[in-house]
Amino acid sequence: MPIAAVTVPTSSPAGSDDAIFRRNKAVFICFDFTENACPTYYGSESYSTTRTILGRTSSKQLEDTSVADTHPGATVVGRVALVGFGTVGRAVARILCETAKPSLRLTHICNRNVGPKKQPWVPADVIWTEDFREVLSSDADIVVELIGGLAPAEEFVRSALLAGKSVVTANKQLIARHGPDLLQLANRTRCQLEFGASVAGGVPVLPALRTGLCGDRLHGISGILNGTCNYILSRIETARIPFSDALEEAQARGYAEADASEDLDGGDARAKLAILALAGLQACVSPEQIRARTIRAVDAVDFDYATELGCTIRQISRADLKDGTMFAEVGPGLVATSSPFGRVQNNQNLVLTSGKYGGDMAFLGAGAGGDPTAVAVVSDLMFVAQSLSAGARSHWPQQFLAPKVSCDFEAPWYLRFLVKDQPGIIAKLAAILSAHGLNIDAVLQKPGYEKAALPFVITLEPCRDSQLHPALEEMAALDFAIKPCLCLPILR
Ligand SMILES: NC(=O)c1ccc[n+]([C@@H]2O[C@H](COP(=O)([O-])OP(=O)(O)OC[C@H]3O[C@@H](n4cnc5c(N)ncnc54)[C@H](OP(=O)(O)O)[C@@H]3O)[C@@H](O)[C@H]2O)c1
Repeated sequence: MPIAAVTVPTSSPAGSDDAIFRRNKAVFICFDFTENACPTYYGSESYSTTRTILGRTSSKQLEDTSVADTHPGATVVGRVALVGFGTVGRAVARILCETAKPSLRLTHICNRNVGPKKQPWVPADVIWTEDFREVLSSDADIVVELIGGLAPAEEFVRSALLAGKSVVTANKQLIARHGPDLLQLANRTRCQLEFGASVAGGVPVLPALRTGLCGDRLHGISGILNGTCNYILSRIETARIPFSDALEEAQARGYAEADASEDLDGGDARAKLAILALAGLQACVSPEQIRARTIRAVDAVDFDYATELGCTIRQISRADLKDGTMFAEVGPGLVATSSPFGRVQNNQNLVLTSGKYGGDMAFLGAGAGGDPTAVAVVSDLMFVAQSLSAGARSHWPQQFLAPKVSCDFEAPWYLRFLVKDQPGIIAKLAAILSAHGLNIDAVLQKPGYEKAALPFVITLEPCRDSQLHPALEEMAALDFAIKPCLCLPILR
């Protein structure tokens, strides 16, 4: 059957763009996009975008379209423009160039100062550019944003969607802050937006939330989401070295940046938790609403005491949705050595989900690295190409809850004190705890430490965070305390 092509001449200024809409074997060339304006759709709502071509549609482009249309079952190729040719971008390009992905064709690579980036293994017909406008006005169907950060990544993604191009990104900051808004924009412009590599790198947890688990009603998500913290904590655990040595080692081996604050203080993990909450709990929260506690105060002695309790220490991100409140936080906690969290070593990531019907699920694997992350990006690309060729709308929900966010979890607690030893310390601490209605579970004091800087531990029976904190403030003011006590939840 021949293609029915209807060209709608635009009266818009030079440089405005056309798009192709197609349903079954009919092609409709539609409307203009103007900068920052949502496209107006001609034809029935049921016509779905399968490919958008910016600029004047050429006969060559129509020919390309006709190949798919005149051969039922032929694959529609998604033309891919890669923006950001760094660690992940390069690995994505390698996969696209080395493995035959029939549904994808790399057409553009965009990076600032692109000259030195050029690689001989990239096919000669791929266009290298440092001007993102060239990508926008090209015939690329899918833009892969891999420059990271908020600016200009946000502008690039918005303008790509407004230009009718689907977007795949690995950018956690962007999705954590603007995910709901960008998903709505993608829906309005009938594009796809996928961000599977933005959480847990190569571990396919976001695709699982999008498809495999969307039939459940999830109420909890928790995870080890930061490989740098996990590397440092597992090194302290195995080598019993001080925190500062483990950090230096991680930096020397390229697992931690020179300024690792975002990782150590929980900023990175809470952005990822916000994305998991969005995708899995349909809850829209900003990363800043989630309390983050640093791992900097954890030291080798804490692993000695944790071992006594059958536990180890990991940075845990957790979100539980209960009666309209999302309990969420990121920070170090004790976990049973035999638990899934306790077994996660080095820079691996683990995500656990809890659903009303399906129960608990676990996703484990490489949370970072060029190649594993690139696999997640290419998988998103293949999914987007399939969705576009099937004319599907976004697979993500468009409506999100806006729950109250609280960090007032109930848990048993581990309190590690560092004191100048003197008589009566335990009695004074016990008096404060008792005055706040807190029950001691155990007191642990290992022999062999200097009396001038004596670490010992009190564990508490379960209580709420809000009940414990006034007591901690009182205890920090006692004259024998060398440092405020380290307070960690025990998450068995
Ligand atoms: N690396 C991982 O393991 C990993 C894991 C999960 C997610 N991610 C996410 O993946 C994204 C990319 O990470 P990456 O590790 O590949 O970063 P990267 O190595 O720093 O690469 C970023 C690339 O983008 C280019 N770039 C930056 N700003 C640009 C701009 N304004 N215009 C054009 N090009 C620009 C950079 O060029 P220059 O070389 O000139 O700086 C560089 O080539 C980030 O969102 C990151 O959070 C990374």
